[in-house]
Amino acid sequence: MEYESLIIDALLEAGAKPVSGEELAGRLGISRTAVWKHIRALQREGYHIEVLRGRGYALKRLSSRPLEREVRRGLSTRRFGKRVIYYERVGSTNDVARELARQGAEEGTVVIAGEQTRGRGRLDRSWESPEGGVFLSLIVRPHIPPAAISRLSLLAGLAAAKAAESFSGVPIGLKWPNDLMVDDRKVGGVLCEMEGEAERVDFAIVGIGIDANCDVSVDIPTTSLKKEAGAAVDITGLIREVLRVFENLYEGFLRGAADFLEDYKERSQTLGKDVKILQPKREIAGKAVDIDGEGALVLRLRDGSYERVLSGDCIHLR
Ligand code: BTN
Repeated sequence: MEYESLIIDALLEAGAKPVSGEELAGRLGISRTAVWKHIRALQREGYHIEVLRGRGYALKRLSSRPLEREVRRGLSTRRFGKRVIYYERVGSTNDVARELARQGAEEGTVVIAGEQTRGRGRLDRSWESPEGGVFLSLIVRPHIPPAAISRLSLLAGLAAAKAAESFSGVPIGLKWPNDLMVDDRKVGGVLCEMEGEAERVDFAIVGIGIDANCDVSVDIPTTSLKKEAGAAVDITGLIREVLRVFENLYEGFLRGAADFLEDYKERSQTLGKDVKILQPKREIAGKAVDIDGEGALVLRLRDGSYERVLSGDCIHLR
């Protein structure tokens, strides 16, 4: 593993120029046959390494897929991403992460995929997950009661929005509870799921999906960062940025800091709007006037009374 990272470093350093097997062997203190084995392993991982007869090896380009090693290279976090598990294609990263968490995987473990075949969204919807998107699930084990999970999911939405904005330059707003929006077009979302007891969360899986370089066709207006920015986004770098921003916010959250909510509200597209909330058994219409400490949307109803809403599909009216 370590040798393979050193080989990538050496090939990157050389740019497009090939580096000979002999030179690599000398630098690493291993045999040329061993170098060749590591090159083969890297190719299997998805790196495009060209073998130039008699001249050596050249790295054509880094994979556009978020390989485990690439995510971990230069990752400046303390906990998030200490363990990264990458699948080229998987059903749902949230499902994989949940299984790992049940088996005791530690906080900060990240599952990412190049594509998902059964990606899930909020409210039992499916989440289209073609190549080019960010599909990431993070295991966290906060010592909080289950009621605080809504706040954690707002926090995750804020982290994803901030990271996607700073990384791509595209301004990202939030539609309550945690849809990432570019004006009225959805560009990402968060699916936060937990397991635990009445008093205590055992673990939560924070699933983040961002349409970075992929187009999806669902029945709501959507967009991608690529379309908005006019250039493809480096998915691996974006994942690293999400983990960095999220970890910072999460540490504040564990210390009990509530200031993230102000940050969230500033990005909220929902506050101040007339909205309709669709719940399985009822529909509530009103003006969105606040988001409270528990992450509930506070609505002022027609009759002047107030109602707190903790879940549902939020539709902006005007
Ligand atoms: C939404 O409905 O807006 C939430 C979408 C969340 C999608 C992400 S992609 C990674 C993770 N795995 C899933 O199956 N869903 C989440």
